[in-house]
Amino acid sequence: MTISDSSGIALVGPGAIGTTVAAALHEAGRTPVICGRSAHEHLELRFDGGRIVVPGPVRTDPATIVHPFDLVFVAVKATQIEAAAPWLAALCHAGTVVCVLQNGVEQRAHFARYLPDNPVLPSVVWFPAQREADASVWLRGTARLTLPDTPATGAVLAALSGTRCSVEAVSDFTTVAWRKLLQNAVAGLMVLAGRRAGMFARADIGALALAYARECLEVARAEGAKLDDQVAQEVVNGFRHSPPDLGTSILADRQAGRPLEWDGRNGVIQRLGRSHGIPTPVSDVIVPLLAAGSDGPG
Ligand SMILES: NC(=O)c1ccc[n+]([C@@H]2O[C@H](COP(=O)([O-])OP(=O)(O)OC[C@H]3O[C@@H](n4cnc5c(N)ncnc54)[C@H](OP(=O)(O)O)[C@@H]3O)[C@@H](O)[C@H]2O)c1
Repeated sequence: MTISDSSGIALVGPGAIGTTVAAALHEAGRTPVICGRSAHEHLELRFDGGRIVVPGPVRTDPATIVHPFDLVFVAVKATQIEAAAPWLAALCHAGTVVCVLQNGVEQRAHFARYLPDNPVLPSVVWFPAQREADASVWLRGTARLTLPDTPATGAVLAALSGTRCSVEAVSDFTTVAWRKLLQNAVAGLMVLAGRRAGMFARADIGALALAYARECLEVARAEGAKLDDQVAQEVVNGFRHSPPDLGTSILADRQAGRPLEWDGRNGVIQRLGRSHGIPTPVSDVIVPLLAAGSDGPG
């Protein structure tokens, strides 16, 4: 058994978010086994005041996994779950806790197909991190996760206790997840403009973003989120007070010509809105544009 194997923790998807969590675990002496698509000798996280190098190598073949793990973090994009599924089969035993580090409100449904009996924990990832050209990751905030308070959550709390990535377990996860989804949905406007957060300083974009945030809020409430009217304005203000060059992972994907997480971040508002009979006029314009920008044809 290698030193890495002894942590009992594996991580699938060592991109911006995966590298941040892997670095936090490594710094605390709980180095995870790292499973990815692209081969790297190590991972590197940079942040204000320092850097952490996580020893690899990044494994790229699920057949090299010889025993299952008790805790698996999954930080692939929602568009990459199917391709990453062989890792889940190799890494998980019946009781493996799987913590999904992804945006959206449908993580449990997405993973149930591959892990019908395992405890799957969605999370809200609150920190911005971006992959740089040299494959290092720049952590642009304080690493923080929110998870639902369930019996399985203790495994994640224990793994990340005392690390630079704090974890909060909450009883009303639905509300927290939808609050984050409102932010993600509005961030999708950056893809259509091809601009970063500075664009929200424009009055016209501010008005559009507010109308869209209000539409999302209606759907969120219909899904059980307990969010006040003022949340829509808070979301818009959050972008206005961000660094003007702050992007979003869906914008980075667009600019790199990669598939977009449009369905889980924006399409979901339209789909669930329809199921509740809530009009979604802003979604009805922006969702087809995001979908076509992601998936074509053309
Ligand atoms: N970045 C942020 O600031 C941020 C903030 C909050 C939430 N999120 C959410 O967190 C999730 C992850 O985003 P991210 O920005 O970290 O994405 P990312 O940087 O693109 O990382 C995804 C990682 O998964 C790897 N991967 C792709 N297919 C795989 C496969 N079949 N098997 C194993 N690994 C595979 C990728 O490998 P390659 O190196 O080959 O591409 C990459 O290392 C998304 O749902 C995103 O919306 C991101």
